[in-house]
Amino acid sequence: MKSKLLLTLCVSAPAWAAPSTLRSFDYIIVGGGTAGLTVANRLTENPAITVAVIEAGSFVENVVGNLSQVPAYAFAIQSAAATNPALGWGFHTTPQPGLGGAVVDYVRAKTLGGCSSINNVAYSRSSKGAFKLWADTVGDQSYTWDRVLPYYRKSMDFTPPDASTRFANASPSYNAAATARGGPLDITYAAYAESWSTWVARGLAAIGIPPTSALIDGTLTGSTWQLYTVDHATGHRASSDTAFLRPSLHRPNLVVFTETLAERVLFNVWKVATGVEATTTGSNTTFTLTARREVILSAGVFQSPQLLMVSGVGPRAVLQQYNIPVVADRPGVGQGMRDHILIPLTYQVNLASVDLTSATAVAEFNTQARGPLTNPGGDFVGLEKIPAAFRTNWSSEKKTMLAALPDDWPEIEYLVLPAPLTGGTTPGASYATVFAALQAPQSTGNVSIASASMGDPPVINPNWLTAQADLDVLLAAFKRMRQMAASDAMADVIIGEEFLPGPAVQTDEQILAYFRLAGTSISHAHATNPMGKASDPKAVVGTTGKVYGVKSLRVIDASVFPFLLPGPAPQSHVYMLAEKLADAIKKGY
Ligand SMILES: Cc1cc2nc3c(=O)[nH]c(=O)nc-3n(C[C@H](O)[C@H](O)[C@H](O)COP(=O)(O)OP(=O)(O)OC[C@H]3O[C@@H](n4cnc5c(N)ncnc54)[C@H](O)[C@@H]3O)c2cc1C
Ligand SMILES: *[C@@H]1O[C@H](CO)[C@@H](O)[C@H](O)[C@H]1NC(C)=O
Ligand SMILES: *[C@@H]1O[C@H](CO)[C@@H](O)[C@H](O)[C@H]1NC(C)=O
Ligand SMILES: *[C@@H]1O[C@H](CO)[C@@H](O)[C@H](O)[C@H]1NC(C)=O
Ligand SMILES: *[C@@H]1O[C@H](CO)[C@@H](O)[C@H](O)[C@H]1NC(C)=O
Repeated sequence: MKSKLLLTLCVSAPAWAAPSTLRSFDYIIVGGGTAGLTVANRLTENPAITVAVIEAGSFVENVVGNLSQVPAYAFAIQSAAATNPALGWGFHTTPQPGLGGAVVDYVRAKTLGGCSSINNVAYSRSSKGAFKLWADTVGDQSYTWDRVLPYYRKSMDFTPPDASTRFANASPSYNAAATARGGPLDITYAAYAESWSTWVARGLAAIGIPPTSALIDGTLTGSTWQLYTVDHATGHRASSDTAFLRPSLHRPNLVVFTETLAERVLFNVWKVATGVEATTTGSNTTFTLTARREVILSAGVFQSPQLLMVSGVGPRAVLQQYNIPVVADRPGVGQGMRDHILIPLTYQVNLASVDLTSATAVAEFNTQARGPLTNPGGDFVGLEKIPAAFRTNWSSEKKTMLAALPDDWPEIEYLVLPAPLTGGTTPGASYATVFAALQAPQSTGNVSIASASMGDPPVINPNWLTAQADLDVLLAAFKRMRQMAASDAMADVIIGEEFLPGPAVQTDEQILAYFRLAGTSISHAHATNPMGKASDPKAVVGTTGKVYGVKSLRVIDASVFPFLLPGPAPQSHVYMLAEKLADAIKKGY
């Protein structure tokens, strides 16, 4: 069995004590997260290029031990990230009108690997039509499917599923031509399938959502088992940390400053980004790193726009409000946020519950990389456009809005979880959930600042469920889930009446009230520094990630997508974009 070598970082001297020559690098990357570590690895493949990564967190396993390795501990590591400031940022939203005014935690990782170290490890790609729309929106045909696929494949090391570890009726189907071996990121299927998923597969087929192959070949419609960023040999989670940082830590041309907060991008009078001011979180010492070539922001969907704004790039009125000198007036910074919102329905089910803490499960995982601990929970999805019969009540305006999306862009995703989400369950009984998640969200949020300091949290306003189109799509999806639950295919597994929200919720008004109560984010926020044409005043970056209005500054992370791509699992797109733009940098674009 492949064993993981866990290294501990050695920045030999405190960064701020180093002589100035050692504080100068070709590239400074802010944020050692999903995108940042991918870019750092690719740039330092050339030994003549020096790179510094500034990351506020540190090594994930030092903070949470085996939560960082075991896929089934995904929810536990996310709870840790929500509460432990050594692992997460503790962000929350502004009061959300679409959720009855609730203030909601928005989990973001503060660790090497970023959100890839704490997410649910699901892996899927997007659709051909969505990439055509991306290419046309930004005016660059290198964003079409055929030309981005090599960058998805570049990071992938695919291991086929082992049929002997899964139920006979849980054999995944995938397009082998879309897979690749030999990349740094381990991708495979869980060595254990959840029984609830085999039932939902039947239920979805019964309402017209047939099985398809893995969502990696440019198509998204149908139902399928989820791929995971997991090492098949060990069963351990894979992340940008395991894939891109650990194998490159020994490179003398890469320095990683951990537990260091980037405070500000520095510009000279010609608006050239010349470096970054940063503070060590322990000793609270501020120092400057100089960038000989470029500063690259990979601080994620909330802090990349925040860092732009506190550094003088953003909407003029906001900068002036906090006495930040305006370097470039870019009204699009922080605007355009889209997210996947989901709604649960829970049932009591005729299935044995699985004990993840049993000695058998633990031993099976540790000695054979098998069993329920290899599965993060929720291993099956189905996607569709809402069928005609369920859209009869929609306004023509809404129909036109959604019809403007490509034919292969699904409006809704159905997702499983073999567990209940609330209390009130009967002891000893089993429960399972199915979710509907928006795939074409029309509600648009924004990110702003409450001060000129990165030490204060950004102001996050997702505006979830404020667009009428989102409510209509979810209303239809809710009825589709009830249709599935009522189908003959589910009769042998569902026991009694719907548990959540329950049969008392019937009218559209009652269902909408339930959405305000139960709507949650799946943490897929994107598009807060949208990529666009130079002529678009709302665009923040061009097609190689270069920030408009200044020089030698790029953003490479989830914030620069022109929109949130369809597909259940967006981390693959972040890896893809990081590979693509690292390649662009190396080629001198
Ligand atoms: C709970 C959860 C579950 C998810 N599940 C899935 C899933 O199953 N599948 C999927 O595909 N996607 C999933 N996602 C989404 C996906 O993980 C993210 O979209 C993606 O990882 C974002 O990558 P990024 O590079 O933009 O940002 P991140 O990976 O968040 O990286 C940003 C990094 O910058 C650092 N940073 C920020 N500000 C500063 C600063 N000022 N100074 C220094 N460092 C800074 C942060 O600490 C962090 O390490 C999930 C996300 C979450 C939170
Ligand atoms: C860090 O130092 C700065 C400047 O000396 C000071 O203003 C700030 O309050 C300190 N922060 C902490 C957390 O100690
Ligand atoms: C992870 O660590 C915890 C606490 O030490 C332990 O109880 C659990 O069994 C471990 N899990 C595995 C899969 O080894
Ligand atoms: C359309 O609206 C009517 C009246 O509110 C309602 O009875 C019907 O169920 C709705 N149809 C769908 C498909 O939601
Ligand atoms: C964000 O959106 C809300 C609601 O649409 C709006 O009131 C607010 O002014 C916006 N904030 C910024 C900074 O754009």
